[in-house]
Order: sequence, then C-alpha cells, then structure tokens
Amino acid sequence: AAQAAMQKAVELAPDSWIPGGRPDPLIDRKHGLIGAQTSRVDGSLKVRGAAPFAAEFPLEGLLYAAVTFSTIAKGRITTLDTAEAEAAPGVVLVMTHRNAPRMRPMPLFLTSQKAAGGDDLPVMQDDRIHWNGQPVALVLAETQEQADHAASLVRVAYEVEPALLSFAEAKAKGTEPGIFMGPMKLEIGDPEAALAAAPHKVDTVYRTPRHSHNAIELHAATVAWQGDTLRVHDASQAVAHTAWSLAEIFGIDESNVHVTSPFVGGGFGGKSLWHHQVLAAAASKLTGRPVRIVLSREGVYRLVGGRTLTEQRLALGARDDGTLDAIIHTGTVAMTPHNAMPEPFILPTQSAYAARSIKLDVEVVKLDMLANTFMRAPGESVGTFALESAMDELAVELGMDPVELRIRNEPEKDPTSGLPFSSRHIVDAYRMGAERFGWSARSATPGMRREGEWLIGMGVATATYPYHRMPGGAARLTLTRDGRVTVEAAAHEMGMGTATAQSQITAERLGLSLDQVTVHYGDSAMPGMILAGGSQQTASIGAAVIAAQRELVAELLKLAGNDSPLAGLKPDEVGGMNGGLAKLDEPDRFESYVSILTRANSDEVSVVGNAPMPLETQHWSMHSYGAMFCEVRVNAITGEPRVSRFLGSFDCGRIINAKTAASQFRGGIIMGLGLALMEETVFDERSGRIMNPSMAEYHVPVHMDVPEIDVIWTDIADPHTPMGAHGVGEIGITGVGAAVANAVYNATGKRVRDLPITLDKLM
Ligand code: MOS
Repeated sequence: AAQAAMQKAVELAPDSWIPGGRPDPLIDRKHGLIGAQTSRVDGSLKVRGAAPFAAEFPLEGLLYAAVTFSTIAKGRITTLDTAEAEAAPGVVLVMTHRNAPRMRPMPLFLTSQKAAGGDDLPVMQDDRIHWNGQPVALVLAETQEQADHAASLVRVAYEVEPALLSFAEAKAKGTEPGIFMGPMKLEIGDPEAALAAAPHKVDTVYRTPRHSHNAIELHAATVAWQGDTLRVHDASQAVAHTAWSLAEIFGIDESNVHVTSPFVGGGFGGKSLWHHQVLAAAASKLTGRPVRIVLSREGVYRLVGGRTLTEQRLALGARDDGTLDAIIHTGTVAMTPHNAMPEPFILPTQSAYAARSIKLDVEVVKLDMLANTFMRAPGESVGTFALESAMDELAVELGMDPVELRIRNEPEKDPTSGLPFSSRHIVDAYRMGAERFGWSARSATPGMRREGEWLIGMGVATATYPYHRMPGGAARLTLTRDGRVTVEAAAHEMGMGTATAQSQITAERLGLSLDQVTVHYGDSAMPGMILAGGSQQTASIGAAVIAAQRELVAELLKLAGNDSPLAGLKPDEVGGMNGGLAKLDEPDRFESYVSILTRANSDEVSVVGNAPMPLETQHWSMHSYGAMFCEVRVNAITGEPRVSRFLGSFDCGRIINAKTAASQFRGGIIMGLGLALMEETVFDERSGRIMNPSMAEYHVPVHMDVPEIDVIWTDIADPHTPMGAHGVGEIGITGVGAAVANAVYNATGKRVRDLPITLDKLM
C-alpha cells in the first residue's frame, strides 16, 4: 500500500498556510508517511547508549566543576575563605567574584529575539546576593568527587539585608501589572456588574504552588575554549539563542561560539541559559582547560528557575441555560525583578468561552528569590486548573452536565481577539472522548460510587495551548547523487521525536522513502534559530523544509536542462515522487534525483530555505485543544487519591507521527498528574530557601501513580498551518489539574482549590 501511495505525485502549494494561500497538500498524506506510527530514528542509538548527552564528551585535560551556593536570600558577602578548598586534593581553581573574568549579564529571555537567559543578573561579578542559592564559588578539580568535596570547604560569611520573601506581605505592599509579550490585562463589557446580576455564579480563589524543573538529565555542559572560540556541548532547547547570548556575555562575535546539543534528556522550558554554562565557560577561560559542569539535583533547584506560584480569582456568571454572562479571571503571581515569566494564567481564558463580558488580569509581586521561568505550558497548565475547576463548580450550581455546559459556551470566533478560529473541533473531541470514556455512566451526585474503602468519581476539563510558529525558521536541504537527502536545522531533540517527524515530512515532500532522509539538528552553526519551546518546532522546521524543497526544485530543474522529460516546466508545476520530480498533472514526465544529478555530473545540490514570516497567527486564532477525562479513586479512610483511568481526546490538527504524538500527549498528562497530586516546591518564607531540593522530597509521578492513559485525536488538518499540524508538546499537561480535581469532587463531594491535591486535604 505504501508503494502504491508512492506512485501518486504530491502537489506543491507555495507558502500555502500564509493568509490567502492554498491549504498545504501534504495534509492529504499523499505518500502515507504523514500520520504513520513511525518509530524513532534515534531509538536504536539511545537504547545502545550511543547517543551522546552534554556531560558525555570526553575532552583531553577535562576539569570537573562544582558549585557553592549562597545560604542567604539578600545581602553581601563579607568573608569568602577559599584557602581550604584551594588546598584540597585535585583542586585547580576556585573561582569567585574576586577572580572571575569580567562578563556582561545574561541577555534575558524575550528581551531580544535570540536572548536565552533565565535571568539578567551579573554572574559572579560582585559581592551582592540576590537569592538563596545563588552561586558564590565554582571549584574546578581533576575529578568530580574532588570538586564536590572542595566546594563544601568554601567558607562564606554574609551581611544579611532584609529580603522580601512573603507573598502575602508583598501583595499588601502592592502589585504591578504582569507583562508577557504584551499586557496581561483586558476588559470587555462590565463583567463585575454582569456577575452581580447573574442568576447562577461561582466566585472563588484557586492556588497553585511553585514547581521545580526535574528533567531526568541534569543540567549539564562541557565547554572548551579553542583560542577565541568557545565550544559548548550543552543540554539545550535553544542552541542558536544560547550561542548568541554567550557571545554577548563574553563580548565576542557570535560566530566564535559554537553550541551543540544533539540529545537532551528532557527540557520542558528549563533547558535554557543559566549561570552554570556561563561559570563553566569563565572558569575554562581562566584555566585554559576544558570544563564539564553537571549540576547536582539540588543544584538544579538552586540555580534553575521553575514555575512560580499563582493565586487566581475565577468568577463565572451564567444564565439558566448555562450561557456565560461574565468571566473574571484575575490574580497575582510572584516573580523577581530579574526574569521575564509572570506565569500568564489568563492565556487559556482568552479564547475559551463565548462570554458576554470578560475581565482578565495578571498582577505581579517581585520577591527576592530565584528567577522563575517557562515550565511546560506556562500559563495554561495552572490557568486551566482555575478556569476548568470553576466551570465544574458552575455545572454543579446549574445542575447541568459539565460537558454540556462547555458545549453551550462554545464560541464562534475568538471571544477576545475577535479573530476567526483557524481550526477548532473541540466539541468533536468532547463527544469522541465522552463516548470512549463512558462518561454517561457518571453520577452527577458526588459520593455515589463506592467499592470497599474506595470512593470513585469522574471529572472532565478542557485542555488548550496556542499554536506558535516563531520567526527565524530555516533549514538546509542537501541532495546527493545517490538520491539521499540531508536536512540541517538549529533545532532540538529533547526526547519528543523531532528528527523522526521531520524525516517523515521531508520524505513526504520530496517523494523519498524514510531511510533516504537524514535529519541533523542541535547545532548553532546550522541554519535557523528554532526554539524547542512554545510547542512550535514541528511547524517551524516543517515550514523551513517546505521552503527549502521549493529552492531545491528550482535548482534541480536548472540542472535537468533541456534533455530532461521535465524540460520547460516551472517549479510550481513539479512535485516530488518516487525518488524524483514529476509534472503534477502528468506524472509520466518524471526524472529521478539520481538521474538529474548524474547527467549534470553533480555530486550534490544544497539549498537553504527560510520559513516565511509567521503571519498566520495575525489572521486566525490558533490553538491545540483537548478534552481530558479522569477517573479517580479516593480512599474513604486515608484520603489517598489514586487516578485509575485517564483519557485525553485531542484536536491538534493533522498528527504527523501517531506514535511520538501519543507519547507527547501521555507525557504531558503524566506531568499534569504530578501537578494535580504531588508537585510542590517548598519555599521557606523566612529564609527564602527551597527546602525540598531532591526527588526524595519533591514528588513526581512514578509508575505506580500512573494508570493506563488512553489518547485519541480528531486528526482534522488545519488548512492554515504547515502540514496542517498544531503543536502537541505542551497541551498534554493542560486541563489535567482540573480534570483530577473535578473527579475528586465527584468521588467525595470535596472541592480542592489549592494544588496539589494531597490526602490531608481529603481527610
Ligand atoms: Mo516550553 S515551557 O515552551 O519548553
């Protein structure tokens, strides 16, 4: 069947997702590769241990780094005694603010297109302390053990200054408007008046705690200076951004920094530029030797920001028929004066429901703590907890089925931007999901189902995450005389299957088989600056591959010349099929890639394609959607909640790879179970110290916590995106907190409004 499908020519549609363009014909899956259950092309490398991660590059003369962290939140260093550490076995350097080279602060994320810094504080440049856990010394030694030991011997005394650490105290002093790529404040109509007048309402406060990044692979880098050139093997989801940012910090040309990151053991928003790469590069410069830095698990908690806490007011006012007169979603988050991420929890509410009046507002207080940053679906993951819990509370108040309530409020266009939706089939996702999950068996009255000690309940919530495609997408395609093609793009593989999906897209577009395509990525020297963030890699790289393929066709037609069956054809008349080019409406006019290059006596053709500016999001409201169904069992004696069944029913455009997409959905849902039931960074408001910086005390779901997770999807292509695809990386975590909380309510009659839902809250 695949062979037969290969016989069909693929039509070219120039920049088709651009407003006014034709839908991308790849949506039709001409060659059968798009949507297939394709196994990871890097799977074999990984199971054989042949995939090198950032801390696995053996360099000649390598030194190992360890960090000493501050133990106060604010003040200055008065005494810094490094003598004992310097005298310890194997120690080559103890770097502090006294001997560190002069460096510029890290360019803060979002302040420029290529900035990658989690904060913009100077790194070890003065005696000031800005947070509890700030690096005060970096030790280099011949072994990791020697470095770790010596780091424990650095003696530091401080002059402590009063720090602002209490969220309540900070709020009492006043908040400021949150800014995240624009103001986080909006008002349509008079929602407070509409709420007051509404016959049915909920008006309540939801709280979510701090979360720390816990990727399996610790943050790590192996760095070396070769003359004036800085070489970094990083664990990164932003190689091009990191290269540019390091160049700024060290005052060198961008072309003198080379960052690679072929494999990353989980990213989730935390694998960007933090102080450790900068310190390692600085110390390497001082010693003239390469340096490997691997943060300890505690080190990640001290030095790498996570998700901040939120306190959200969610008020809904509805008529008897359930339609919404008012949505009010406001609240406060904590951040620092030195970071860019106010956890924009209102994002999902912007496009969720057709309310007649809407008020949204994210306010910020700034504490003396570690900078917070992006963590999987920043904004949506905690914003949907509040919004979708409140929808469930409203359904109870109305005596209406919660699925039905959502369907009744389905908007026809984006309720805040007024833009049409590019592709929104959330109602289909709800209906499919409800059917498959057996939603109709649920009792609307809580506490009705009990098996022995276990109370059983079902809950539902909407998942949503925007479609993004950032500027700067580019890719190089190199076709060789053997008919094989190589793709190169400065993009990333954090375990999600980037190379696999792009192999499918490239093979489909060029009319090749999968094994004729090799995808290279994770290298700042490659074309493009494609962040593995915002769930946008697939669309960004795909758009660049499509652009590059058009360049390639033009080059090949020139090479083919007048003796080819393709003679005289224009690029738009030609498509890739069967290992060559064919006229779209006359597939017999065909010449293989091998033949074209052989006749032209050319070894290879190499082109770079630049993805067009991402104008689609200016014309349409574009999002991934899902309906999350959860069944929990809560122990009536101990309060222990266990998720027993979970179904994610998604509407994320055309799915490129059924296998890797399902894994993305499931991984997101599992992270959502952690958010719902266990994750919480314990921040001591007296000292500003994170008190549970280890996986023994900060709990994430383990196998025993995760039931069978069913995932299904509509697979309806969005005509306004490359390949018809939406992102699938982040949506999985959204909605899960509310789905679990709503199921817990249905099981027990207890409404938990502050995460995580631990057993003490259900006693
Ligand atoms: Mo994601 S938080 O954009 O890596």
